[in-house]
Amino acid sequence: MKTYFILLAFAFLSVFHSEAAGEKFIRISTNETDLILQVASDGRLYQTYLGNKLVNESEFGKLPYTLGKVNPGASVLKREVYPCSGTEDYFEPAFAICHNDGNLTSILKYVSTEEKRIDGNVTETIIFLKDEVYPVEVKLHYITFAKENIIKSWSEISHKEKKPVTISRYASSMLYFDAPHYFLTEFSGEWAREVNMTTQELSFGKKVIDTKLGSRAGMLTSPFFEIGLGKEPQENSGEVLMGTISWIGNFQFTFEVDNIKNLRVISGINPYASNYELKPGEVFTTPEFIFTLSNRGVGQASRNFHTWARNYQLKDGKGDRMTLLNNWEATYFSFDQEKLKELMKEAKQLGVDMFLLDDGWFGNKYPRSNDRTSLGDWEATPNKLPGGVPELVKSAKETGIKFGIWVEPEMISVKSELYEKHPDWAITLPNRTPYFFRNQLVLDMSNPAVQDYVFGVVDKLMTENPELAFFKWDCNSPITNIYSPYLKDKQNQLYINHARGVYNVFNRIKNKYPNLPMMLCSGGGARCDYESLKYFTEFWCSDNTDPVERLYIQWGFSQFFPSKAMCAHVTSWNKSASIKFRTDVAMMCKLGFDIRLNEMNPNEKLYCQGAVSNYNRFKKVILDGDLYRLVSPYDGNHTAMMYINETKDKAVLFAYDIFPRFDEKLFTVKPEGLDPGKKYKIEEINLMPGAKSSLNFNGETFSGDYLMKVGLKVFSTSKLNSKVIEITAE
Ligand code: DGJ
Repeated sequence: MKTYFILLAFAFLSVFHSEAAGEKFIRISTNETDLILQVASDGRLYQTYLGNKLVNESEFGKLPYTLGKVNPGASVLKREVYPCSGTEDYFEPAFAICHNDGNLTSILKYVSTEEKRIDGNVTETIIFLKDEVYPVEVKLHYITFAKENIIKSWSEISHKEKKPVTISRYASSMLYFDAPHYFLTEFSGEWAREVNMTTQELSFGKKVIDTKLGSRAGMLTSPFFEIGLGKEPQENSGEVLMGTISWIGNFQFTFEVDNIKNLRVISGINPYASNYELKPGEVFTTPEFIFTLSNRGVGQASRNFHTWARNYQLKDGKGDRMTLLNNWEATYFSFDQEKLKELMKEAKQLGVDMFLLDDGWFGNKYPRSNDRTSLGDWEATPNKLPGGVPELVKSAKETGIKFGIWVEPEMISVKSELYEKHPDWAITLPNRTPYFFRNQLVLDMSNPAVQDYVFGVVDKLMTENPELAFFKWDCNSPITNIYSPYLKDKQNQLYINHARGVYNVFNRIKNKYPNLPMMLCSGGGARCDYESLKYFTEFWCSDNTDPVERLYIQWGFSQFFPSKAMCAHVTSWNKSASIKFRTDVAMMCKLGFDIRLNEMNPNEKLYCQGAVSNYNRFKKVILDGDLYRLVSPYDGNHTAMMYINETKDKAVLFAYDIFPRFDEKLFTVKPEGLDPGKKYKIEEINLMPGAKSSLNFNGETFSGDYLMKVGLKVFSTSKLNSKVIEITAE
């Protein structure tokens, strides 16, 4: 009750944090970053500063971008926070509208600010803006996470015109930067080669990163980026912005360098084919753009994201994660009840917590034996699984492990009972030959009846099998044949309402099953947005489980996501890499296996069992510790990463020789984040049965100071060679 009144008091507090020489400033800050906005004498809102936290509020009036008395000539430096099309800012707008009278302009004037202190660490600032002529309102929201140095920003648009208005630009946020050079790192790829990192310098004009795939939207590009301010993003030094948009559908980032060399970063939903008709009174809420500004390179920025995600965003962010054996690569569609029971026994022998049944278990009239049929018919196939899902859950329990199941409920096969009953539930064109991606169509999630059905898939399985312990939720097709029978003449709403419909279902599932762990999967890593991760405990990074490729893919995703959220499985991809190498790579994330134990020789089996037990012993360090990326695979023939716990008494270092050159010079690897004053014992673990460590310092003790300054010789010239080193404070 007390908290309620305190919150209420803050909620109605209108705050101008600082007023100097008639200028009003709004300060939005974390412990390390200040975003300073100014209400200028024209009543509009401008960005004065975004950078390292300033000590003296009294100096805000002197900032180079402050408008007014101090900088009378500064009108050319105007950086409006939410500029609209049709005004004197001739660059890419954050907002564009068509009013009832056909007028295409809007000028938003400042009205007020509310500040809500959510707790000692989290503060929300809401800034109200209003068009001076039309009844149109925009609320800008900012939530700051002080300790983690993370800021969320988004907007809400509404109006009271007589008829719907059309909004054609609706950014979540717009930020300005001022540096001599800007370098953009983007993450692009394809199925099985996700998040390739490439960096380019930005010069005058625009660079746009966007997607039009609708669902599975991140297949070709990921919803995040890095900007090096002044120089290319570095791991441990330099100023860097890292940002991500929390949107499962079409997103867009626009990076525009303007005439005075400001970099303008606009983030939000991609307005492509989505001029949105907004009804009077309806609130259009944009997705959150989440960012951090680090002056210690991307390494620190990643740790900001990881800590924040575990503390605030990820489903069960602070909880444990289950190791598992998945049957997809082990069996594909060819399995039956008996084979699954065998696999469950193998899972038990391996020592993992759970067996995860993948695609191919469903379909009655049309049993799913390949990817051409059955999506939509979520009943177990009787001749494959005579006892259905209940029998499998029971067997798992008897074997002493948990049981999880795969679904792809947003999709529909034309050859399915669902399609026979509800052809109008599929997104497909009424008057053209359909194009099929992976032989399937996407269900129309803008339709509430479809949302109910999709929610019902999980709900029914859970109601009938309350002991189901895990779901893998897949999505293997982008939106094709873009037409919603439900939306009729409002096709422009489809991309947006579809994404909202997906979240609506995720939300219903989380509300009803708050403790159910779920994996977000999209033909690999095409879904990995932070809004979805509120509802999912983890995501599948890629169908490519070749450990060499995974070193790059995991390096890429680790820029934004904690290892706890990233699933990595040991499979048979790239058999020229030993089982040890494959397992050591997967152990850096949330460990699973997707392989038959009976294909392994006794030594390999023993090795895997030992690795699972080591993982269980220190998985808290890997899943909850701080990540230090020590040597990048992009820089040569080796790579190394380490995790360290909060108290700095336990760390695990992973070192890999990929394809070293003959007799190449090997450098030491310098661990980071240790306590210089502590003494640490170095011990190589995860050795093949009977093997001895090749490290001549194995078992020795060094000071943190020595380790961080001198480092350890852990690399070798052997190909596809890996080492896992436990570092323990004495
Ligand atoms: C794509 C996923 O990424 C795979 O792991 C597997 O679940 C298949 N779909 C099943 O069809």
